Amino acid sequence: MSSQYKNVHKSSSFAPIMKKARRTLIAGSLIVGCTLFSSSAFSADAGMEELKKVLEGQIALMKPELQEKVKGLSMDTKMQLMAILAMHNRNSDKVTMRQVMTEVLSDFQSVLSGVMTDNPEQASDSARRLANHRIPVGGLLPYLGMENITDERLAILSGINDSVEGNALKLAAAAEAGDMKTASTFIGPISSGCVACHAVFRGQPGVSDLLK
Ligand code: HEC
Repeated sequence: MSSQYKNVHKSSSFAPIMKKARRTLIAGSLIVGCTLFSSSAFSADAGMEELKKVLEGQIALMKPELQEKVKGLSMDTKMQLMAILAMHNRNSDKVTMRQVMTEVLSDFQSVLSGVMTDNPEQASDSARRLANHRIPVGGLLPYLGMENITDERLAILSGINDSVEGNALKLAAAAEAGDMKTASTFIGPISSGCVACHAVFRGQPGVSDLLK
């Protein structure tokens, strides 16, 4: 997680958790043999408890075979997943990843509209909404495919996340400062992040299995 994330989502009750998660990760205070996401390394912080509950709720919704795979992930990967979740405070109990993505696309288009019409309020509000997109029911993992639930594949997730959300927040800040020229330079990096994630975790949308 890069420094661009330091001051984001101040209103989120998860904001301090991310720092803590990062510190904990850096300190390497990983407890071997702990149960899933319930390392005592987390328990000192009330916010961390809240985040842990969100995660445990997600895991409870997963089918046993996915639960097993998630349990097998390294603590490092789990900490990264928690750090990503800590940046979002809108957790849905019904919408799917596809629905979230459609909403994200709408927010992205609204960012473009704001930039192109020199409307800093629309640009920054939409960019912040995009950065704090909803988390789908069950979290992200159930939608990434079983083959991607490995330490190696998930390791790239937080970099991509930084690219999309970090640049969205930079765009918001530039728009708020009235600098639409700078704001516009983040459009490319944001879309590169979307495309990078799709290249790894998504195929072509809507492919029919009724075609030869
Ligand atoms: C963390 C990885 C990730 C990032 C970042 C990401 N996407 Fe996605 N996106 C996915 C996955 C996975 C799917 C497929 C979800 C499914 O079909 O269940 C998807 C699907 C989509 C879809 C197709 C929805 C459909 O109906 O099939 C759209 C549109 C989309 N994303 C837009 C975006 C935009 C715009 C951005 C950047 C602002 C973005 N995505 C960033 C992972 C990501």
